[in-house]
Amino acid sequence: MNAAVFTSSSALSLPISFCKTRSSQLTRKKGVKGEFRVFAVFGEDSGLVEKKSQWGDLFDVEDPRSKTPPPYKGKLMDVNQALEVARFDIQYLDWRARQDLLTIMLLHDKVVDVLNPLAREYKSIGTVKKELAGLQEELAKAHQQVHISEARVSSALEKLAHMEELVNDRLLPVRVATESESDTPSSSYSTSVHDLDREKTNIGGKSLNVSGPVQPYSPHLKNFWYPVAFTAHLKHDTMVPIDCFEQPWVIFRGEDGKPGCVRNTCAHRACPLDLGSVNNGRIQCPYHGWEYSTDGKCTKMPSTKLLNVKIKSIPCLEQDGMVWVWPGDEPPSPTLPSLQPPSGFVIHAELVMDLPVEHGLLLDNLLDLAHAPFTHTSTFAKGWSVPSLVKFLTPSSGLQGYWDPYPIDMEFKPPCVVLSTIGISKPGKLEGKSTEQCATHLHQLHVCLPSSRNKTRLLYRMSLDFAPILKNLPFMEHLWRHFAEQVLNEDLRLVLGQQERMLNGANIWNLPVAYDKLGVRYRLWRNAVDRGDDKLPFSG
Ligand code: FES
Ligand SMILES: [Fe+2]
Repeated sequence: MNAAVFTSSSALSLPISFCKTRSSQLTRKKGVKGEFRVFAVFGEDSGLVEKKSQWGDLFDVEDPRSKTPPPYKGKLMDVNQALEVARFDIQYLDWRARQDLLTIMLLHDKVVDVLNPLAREYKSIGTVKKELAGLQEELAKAHQQVHISEARVSSALEKLAHMEELVNDRLLPVRVATESESDTPSSSYSTSVHDLDREKTNIGGKSLNVSGPVQPYSPHLKNFWYPVAFTAHLKHDTMVPIDCFEQPWVIFRGEDGKPGCVRNTCAHRACPLDLGSVNNGRIQCPYHGWEYSTDGKCTKMPSTKLLNVKIKSIPCLEQDGMVWVWPGDEPPSPTLPSLQPPSGFVIHAELVMDLPVEHGLLLDNLLDLAHAPFTHTSTFAKGWSVPSLVKFLTPSSGLQGYWDPYPIDMEFKPPCVVLSTIGISKPGKLEGKSTEQCATHLHQLHVCLPSSRNKTRLLYRMSLDFAPILKNLPFMEHLWRHFAEQVLNEDLRLVLGQQERMLNGANIWNLPVAYDKLGVRYRLWRNAVDRGDDKLPFSG
């Protein structure tokens, strides 16, 4: 019996409608299939214009409108034909959603172009505001369209998955029967089942397999103050979970308002404490309600009693708008390095990101500027020429200096911080001026906290010595995050590749050249720390 299947290009609000009729009467005999009613989407006129994509694979998807849709319009279909139509529809909806997203990305690009102090010609604040207002309106419309597309894709995917499951269920007994009849497993049915299985496993995000030790951490590296969070992100009765040197910790404020850092594992039955809550300066485990103060003491144990229960806590304090911890065994140093932006700068963004690379590799990357004209061609180094010679000029004993020919000063602050000040001039005109000669500047702080041997918690702070009004514009935090992520993504794929090769034995510092000076000094400093040297190089 053939299934009764109809197609219609008019049912656009419900991309694929699946209905199984008389399901109780479905039989699993070979050749007998259920009925599917498919309303196809193909043929919809999107009205989208071609857009050039600089966003890589995400949008590098073939326009399905150029393909011939399955030739079943208005005809009866069996289940396999119905699946073919449904898959075609999914392909179209997926492509359409990507186009909508691309529209947003391109609009963001425009916003970045308007606001990016590294790339824009001088414009009055009035002009910038007017341009932003127009872009915001376009963005709002584009966001709405994306939500519609998302909903359509997810609804269509759900229905397709359901349909495939039913087909799979129906084919499986047939395949088993076929195999039992013959020693040859390659019947057309078994192929179909395997294809479906393969498709199912392909659904979902790609996972990155970058696990494995790069180098075990030396215990000496823990004997430093590490910034772990921005003060502004640690409000009263909230908490910030962090991983530091492969141990889980949680930071929260005590009754006195001072921050404390305790092991993020309950003493009772090892429940993660950050799943609980903080009330009146005490963190409460969500499992049986045990409560701990910032020094790790268990102060409340509902429904039972046990004395002197404690979880580990480490020294924790607040300075320069950051929360710091001392993860090492030695007594903490009485002084902390200053991470404040220079005077005259206003902080515009404080962002936190977890990145899937070891912190040393990220520091190597941040301490290098020579890669910019090759790596950051879509962001801050757009239009930069490649200089005939790049140098990092620094005193022989220092970890700070400036980049020639760029107006950029840079400093490595042990154990894991990079400070940089960038002189801003016209796009593509960064060369040939010193940082001081530039009228306006951007100051950056990058903290690379070693979370684990393949994970870094990056704290990023961005300050400007001009245009304080930008701070009050709506969406600025979102925009700075977008811009920072764009830059980082350009680096990350390279650093991830290095990490993979390093895990397979490659030496990432095989052939250092003159412009690698600051990165090499970081490595010399870290090697000395790892060895436990009494006197560390470049420390004044
Ligand atoms: S596991 Fe935390 S109170 Fe029981
Ligand atoms: Fe970079």
